Amino acid sequence: MEHLRLGVNIDHVATVRNARGGDYPDPVRAAKLAEEAGADGITAHLREDRRHITDHDIEQLTEALGVPLNFEMAATKEMQAIALRHRPHAVCIVPEKREERTTEGGLEVAQDENRLAHFIAPLREAGSRVSIFIAADRRQIEAANRIGAQVIELHTGTYCDAHAEGRLAERDAELIRLREMATFAHSLGLEVHAGHGLTYETVAPVAEFPEVRELNIGHFLVGEAVFVGLGASIAEMRRIMDEARNAA
Ligand code: PXP
Repeated sequence: MEHLRLGVNIDHVATVRNARGGDYPDPVRAAKLAEEAGADGITAHLREDRRHITDHDIEQLTEALGVPLNFEMAATKEMQAIALRHRPHAVCIVPEKREERTTEGGLEVAQDENRLAHFIAPLREAGSRVSIFIAADRRQIEAANRIGAQVIELHTGTYCDAHAEGRLAERDAELIRLREMATFAHSLGLEVHAGHGLTYETVAPVAEFPEVRELNIGHFLVGEAVFVGLGASIAEMRRIMDEARNAA
């Protein structure tokens, strides 16, 4: 099976920094450390309200990283201009009010196809790989394919929430849906990523999907870093992912 990439999302290092308004802890330092600990890429979400990552962070990350940057953004003109300026390796389009719709899944592509097709075209032309963050839903996958996305990222939040809340039948049903939709998306020629809410407990079944090429994980790794350090939390996640992948 192909190597499963780990993208480390460093947004919440910036959340801690911004709690005091200074420049510590520095997300760029965290990104460099993540790289040393085995991250294959760094993910950062520049939110419209700049609640964690800032424009300056994106500039610094673009200059400092040795691994690819996955720039998460809403489908707005402002974010498009920033992405076109920095030309990151990848751009992941996410819903603007994602946290309010976490149980509903990802971006509504099917109902906004025309606008999104025009929105992503210049990003592709600038050389970024365009990824669309969506629920495990055939209609959304087909729409993402039609608008010209090269990658989809499957939203694992529903699966992880069901696990955390002990709704095990729902968790298992969602896992089956994720697996089927990973296979379906791959059959269309899309590269498949997954992420949101993944932890040591929930990562293995997703890491086993042969079609999934990359997992993007942030909040849990940064939280666990409080106890064991960022390098150790990433190394342990990497180990669990590799073990699951090799056993599959
Ligand atoms: N993938 C996408 C598209 C996301 O928006 C996020 C959260 O910013 C993640 C992955 C990582 O989720 P978490 O921080 O819960 O691991």
